[in-house]
Amino acid sequence: MYPQTRLRRLRSSHALRNMVRETRVDVSNLIAPLFVVPGDKVTREIGSMPGQFQLSVDTAVEKAHQLHELGVSSVLLFAIPEFKDEIGSSSWHPQGIIPKAVRAIKKAIPEMLVVTDLCFCEYTSHGHCGVMRDGHLCNDETLPNLLKQALVHAEAGADIIAPSGMLDGTIGFLRHGLDENNFSNLPLMAYAAKFSSSFYGPFRDAVQSAPEYGDRKTYQMDPANINEALREVELDVQEGADIVMVKPALAFLDVIKAVKETFEMPTAAYNVSGEYAMVKAAAKLGWLDEKRVMLEMLTSIKRAGADIIITYFAEAFAELKKRGEI
Ligand code: PBG
Repeated sequence: MYPQTRLRRLRSSHALRNMVRETRVDVSNLIAPLFVVPGDKVTREIGSMPGQFQLSVDTAVEKAHQLHELGVSSVLLFAIPEFKDEIGSSSWHPQGIIPKAVRAIKKAIPEMLVVTDLCFCEYTSHGHCGVMRDGHLCNDETLPNLLKQALVHAEAGADIIAPSGMLDGTIGFLRHGLDENNFSNLPLMAYAAKFSSSFYGPFRDAVQSAPEYGDRKTYQMDPANINEALREVELDVQEGADIVMVKPALAFLDVIKAVKETFEMPTAAYNVSGEYAMVKAAAKLGWLDEKRVMLEMLTSIKRAGADIIITYFAEAFAELKKRGEI
């Protein structure tokens, strides 16, 4: 009690604050998302995500090299495919963008952990996450297609597969199918509690995946629900998920904390495109200090309980860390 106790004593110098700091974000916690497009030597900045690019396979390999040199050990790949159709069939072509990118990155940097996002919204003409009938996403018809896509990623050498579609039974179906095809050691990172969020706006620009009609509310979760989020995670754990994810991160820190405390699983959080874009826009206007805000956000996600943070800030964070600025 005051005056014996003065909590300010340990705040009096940088060294002291550093010594008693409870939460530290490390570069090894981070996964950097990359957007891969057809073509050669493509580096096209995404308007609503300054500092993030659409990259062709060759420039994606260069980016992976840069990240690797900075100590970022993992990338998450998304594709803008050559063509889109009703069912997203380009996603399971063995010469598609993702398998090509996986092979190229693994060949160039074998120790880089390559995670692939497994979904259909980038590949379907209507922008929904699977097979549609009468305006509805068909759950059970989509699962075998997801497995076809997963097997193509696995055969290309993906290190982790991350299904992001929020269809019921996905993890069990994929686990079974991968095991039957000799991929029983390939981990699944489940987008277990993925909310139907407006924070995905810039991402949908980046991969041109905004739904042509309707929205994703019949498969992604209502942002108001935490009990349901825990049920989603529980099912994914039972079905064999190796890592569980909460997405987005910042408006769902309570969910991250509850998931970590309830299941004690390796837990990931996705610091999504809108969360990145807000900081970039405010910093551009001179309204926020980008570096400090980034650090504060990533620290809050880790403090909430995330072991892994998927973030567009991965490279910037790693650069600042390397220069000793944070
Ligand atoms: C679906 C997917 C989305 C994101 C990652 N995987 C978009 C969506 O569900 O609409 C969003 C990522 C972000 O906003 O950064 N394939």
